[in-house]
Amino acid sequence: MRLVILDDYELASEWAAKYIRNRIIQFKPSAERYFTLGLPTGSTPFGCYQKLIEYYRSGDLSFKYVKTFNMDEYVGLSRAHPESYHSYMWNNFFKHIDIYPSNAHILDGNAKDLEAECQAYEQKITEAGGIELFVGGIGPDGHIAFNEPGSSLVSRTRVKTLAKDTIVANARFFGNDLSKVPTMSLTVGVGTVMDAKEVMILITGAHKAFALYKAIEEGVNHMWTVSAFQQHPRTIFICDEDATLELRVKTVKYFKEPVRIAIAL
Ligand code: PGA
Repeated sequence: MRLVILDDYELASEWAAKYIRNRIIQFKPSAERYFTLGLPTGSTPFGCYQKLIEYYRSGDLSFKYVKTFNMDEYVGLSRAHPESYHSYMWNNFFKHIDIYPSNAHILDGNAKDLEAECQAYEQKITEAGGIELFVGGIGPDGHIAFNEPGSSLVSRTRVKTLAKDTIVANARFFGNDLSKVPTMSLTVGVGTVMDAKEVMILITGAHKAFALYKAIEEGVNHMWTVSAFQQHPRTIFICDEDATLELRVKTVKYFKEPVRIAIAL
């Protein structure tokens, strides 16, 4: 596991975007060999998407041979609703880059048969050759995608009821009206993300500091589902200084040193 600590949100977003850009370029994607990227929504990845759009516009990066799989989607919210994750992804990322719409996969929370939709999603990931790099964010309660506290750490894509904390946290996107916040979602499982070759988790802000502590300094625990990634062979946590507030000084020093050396080189 790596922990990369940057000074603030902007620098953390830029670091993450550069890492994703470099991984795609090094992979040399082609019509025969697509790069598969797992993606999150939320306020955390917004800055990273902005940077990736910049790299596309400056000609450094193309998404022509990239397939994306989003982590989750609300159940029962129309695709066109401004707070659907379809809207989020198209407005904040996909419409600004050269990805083919058919290569950008997002779970359909309005599917007639939600179970079948989840199974088909797993199948599509498998057919795409698995996920090369899964980028994720977490909630203050340590959930990854919508794998709320207590979720199985070997879970697959499925229908999930949202925890009260998540519904309350999401109310800000629905005019602070709790009755308007969807209470169910479709989400990839912890096991689905664990299958990716590499996982990058973005954690910024003091409100996520306790979750970062639980994620990396304590044991694997299904009440903090992000902690499962301690057991993934290639996980990078990218955070800002604020998110480190609950970590031991020793932990922060240990992980900061290599970054300083990398910047100096
Ligand atoms: P945020 O959401 O990036 O808006 O904080 C992350 C999450 O709840 O998974």
